Amino acid sequence: MSFAIILGIFMCTTSAWGQWRTNQKTHQLSLLPESSTLRLCRDFTNQTRFKEILAPIMVPRIVDTPQHRQVGDYLQSFLHNLGFATEWDAFTDTTPFGTRNFRNLIATFDEAAPRRLVLACHYDSKIIPGQVMIAATDSAVPCAMMLDIAQTLAPYMYKRVAQQVGLQLIFFDGEEAFRDWTATDSLYGSRHLAQKWEQKWFPSSSSLNNFELSKEIDRIDVLMLLDLLGAANPSIGNTIGMGATELFSQLADVELNLRATGCLNAIRRNVFNKQLSYNQVEDDHIPFLKRGKINVINFYVNISSGVPILHLITVPFPSVWHRSSDNANALHYPTIDHMTAVIRVFVAKYLGIAPA
Ligand SMILES: *[C@@H]1O[C@H](CO)[C@@H](O)[C@H](O)[C@H]1NC(C)=O
Ligand SMILES: *[C@@H]1O[C@H](CO)[C@@H](O)[C@H](O)[C@H]1NC(C)=O
Ligand SMILES: [Zn+2]
Repeated sequence: MSFAIILGIFMCTTSAWGQWRTNQKTHQLSLLPESSTLRLCRDFTNQTRFKEILAPIMVPRIVDTPQHRQVGDYLQSFLHNLGFATEWDAFTDTTPFGTRNFRNLIATFDEAAPRRLVLACHYDSKIIPGQVMIAATDSAVPCAMMLDIAQTLAPYMYKRVAQQVGLQLIFFDGEEAFRDWTATDSLYGSRHLAQKWEQKWFPSSSSLNNFELSKEIDRIDVLMLLDLLGAANPSIGNTIGMGATELFSQLADVELNLRATGCLNAIRRNVFNKQLSYNQVEDDHIPFLKRGKINVINFYVNISSGVPILHLITVPFPSVWHRSSDNANALHYPTIDHMTAVIRVFVAKYLGIAPA
């Protein structure tokens, strides 16, 4: 009998779910007037401001230490002050070094919007015994890029065209392995949050006539995961099997178009490479991409599909990767400005934000 009830909900869900993803997949980027594009790309770039945003994150951020909590609090208050609703996903897990407290930060602009465009990074840093590890590219800079984009776009969120899509920032905790990368010693935060949102029902308020239910995880249109960014000469590929190769092409087109307008010229080589890539890197997107596999209802696994992912990671990894030299000296600001501008314009086009 309980099975029948579950099945009933399941039937409603699948049809609603199908519609939901279709709406997300057919989402059109807005065409922006050239004046808005230039404002987003040129006027909203300010290296002094970026460095100020980044500075408080450029400290060792070992999970469950005072400095790590301080960085988390900084991210939270920064976004709260911009008008984002912030929430901690706090939990404990067992690590090779014993039990640790973790907390993911979720910041959402317009919580009521049924769908979300997600930007994500991880804010913990790797433990390198006996050494000071700032982990500038891994991922202090990606997190700072998200704050910078949030700060410049937040004032325009009220007037965005895509009112049904909110902007959500996720700061994962415990991405790094405490010792060596294994299925249980890595991705602590993203595994926890994906599972939690897989089990949370979300009743869609936008369609009160149709009984419509979805999972919290299905509210995500696309998860843009930023990682290992900030060093010179990055190359970000269009990875197959992530459900967003077309959207990645559009992101690469944004870079080409911005070059054509003349507002991007500090670095010569393009960063976003449209060509399909087979370089699958294990990172915080995996639990979202592979969602459904943990569900007890077999049917559900079958019809569910992963959250579409834009994995904005450079391959090969920066040469400083997982070394103490991944610090301020590893950063190349013309590259950071370039990438931030492209992502900012892409987000603005996704949400339909056209600053005058
Ligand atoms: C850039 O940011 C700095 C620090 O926030 C600020 O003082 C300065 O006025 C900004 N420059 C421009 C041109 O907006
Ligand atoms: C669903 O399951 C059936 C039978 O197990 C299989 O043949 C089919 O390929 C699956 N569909 C997907 C999309 O995985
Ligand atoms: Zn790392």
